[in-house]
Amino acid sequence: MKPQAKLQAIRGAALTFCGDPFLIGAAAAMHYEPDALIVMEAGLIKAFGAYADLRNQLNPQTPITIYADALIMPGFIDLHVHYPQTQIIGAYGKRLIDWLNRYTFVAEQQFADIDHARVVSQFFLDECLRVGTTTAMVYGTVHAHSVEVFFEAAAERNLRMIAGKVMMDRNAPDALCDTAQSGYDDSRALIEKWHGHERLGYAITPRFAPTSSPAQLEAAGALWRDFPDVHMQTHISENTDEVAWVKQLFPGHHGYLDVYDHYGLVNKRAVFGHGIHLTDSEWQRLHDAEAAVAHCPTSNEFLGSGLFRFDNAKHKGRPVRVGLGTDIGAGTCLSPLRTMGEAYKIGELCGHSLCAADAYFLSTRGAAEALHLDDKIGSIAAGMEADLVVLDLKSTPLVEFRMKFCNSIEEVLAIQMTMADDRATRAVYVAGALAYERVV
Ligand code: GUN
Ligand code: ZN
Repeated sequence: MKPQAKLQAIRGAALTFCGDPFLIGAAAAMHYEPDALIVMEAGLIKAFGAYADLRNQLNPQTPITIYADALIMPGFIDLHVHYPQTQIIGAYGKRLIDWLNRYTFVAEQQFADIDHARVVSQFFLDECLRVGTTTAMVYGTVHAHSVEVFFEAAAERNLRMIAGKVMMDRNAPDALCDTAQSGYDDSRALIEKWHGHERLGYAITPRFAPTSSPAQLEAAGALWRDFPDVHMQTHISENTDEVAWVKQLFPGHHGYLDVYDHYGLVNKRAVFGHGIHLTDSEWQRLHDAEAAVAHCPTSNEFLGSGLFRFDNAKHKGRPVRVGLGTDIGAGTCLSPLRTMGEAYKIGELCGHSLCAADAYFLSTRGAAEALHLDDKIGSIAAGMEADLVVLDLKSTPLVEFRMKFCNSIEEVLAIQMTMADDRATRAVYVAGALAYERVV
């Protein structure tokens, strides 16, 4: 049942971003309010500021929920995730291609059964809420109904979700292949039915260059030209064998990104998963196109794909829009806090220390900027959609003990992303209505 949004306010410590800490520094980008009031009405944030400043303007009838020992943040955004792979998290394989053939393509065939797809969609979305994720950019399977049932379940929960049917017409089992024409037709029908319906958006989803023929990439580009305001998602440069395979399959191109570019798939609202092995000129092209990369740390670790280079991605002369993705089932959890913690460790392995502000930005406003949806989600400010997560800062005895030795909000944030997980989600508001509350 859809949560109902009534006029209400919540009070507690709050954190949001008004800019990119990678570019302007943490102090300028971060807005921390130790005692904030957030007023919500009709799905939107009506007011946000210090409680002391706002309390006199508040209608005395407005109910206020107070959250102590908590941190209120914009709902998290998962920029790259495969809901049908919920059932294969942790499936032990070798590297990407072996893992895809051995587990992923087997599991995805089960989504021929619409009832299975429905059950997994609902479970996945409930898990998103449990970890504080209110928006995700989601891959279905090749079956159009995998996205139908996903959108139905997302609409029931009033969530802002972006999803697409995978397009794949080669190098995969026959049961998972569409054709250039049927992939175009099915995706088009889904766009016409769902894009802009309630809070839902469509992403044209060619899985990755190796599983699409040139004709299919051509069709994907044509579809995007027909519907330029939808998103596009795919994978790029995750694994060195994959990069070599693309070179072999698409001779005559100047690298992996150029294949997508040739077919008109490098634009605003494109989100490329992984991007570990991108070249400098590819980063430049992504910057110029205002396209984005989803960094998926737990997946990159699990499949041994490599270390994401923040110094390249956020190079001051040509910064690229980046957000974090969980990428389950290659990723090992849906928790944005856990994902931030792993992003931090990968930064350390590359000699690029992420500060806490960087990490929290990547799962909130940074991901919203990657989607070009930062005028709607990813920040706490008047006029934004009221998707919020309330984190319990004392979610386990160990976290609670560790908190006693913190001296700043930066330290609190760093400890939470290092030690906390889904148990820290105390409450989630979706479009101004309480959609999840942890049972204690
Ligand atoms: N590349 C193409 N498909 C996939 C997928 O399902 N998961 C990951 N991690 N990489 C991919
Ligand atoms: Zn992926």
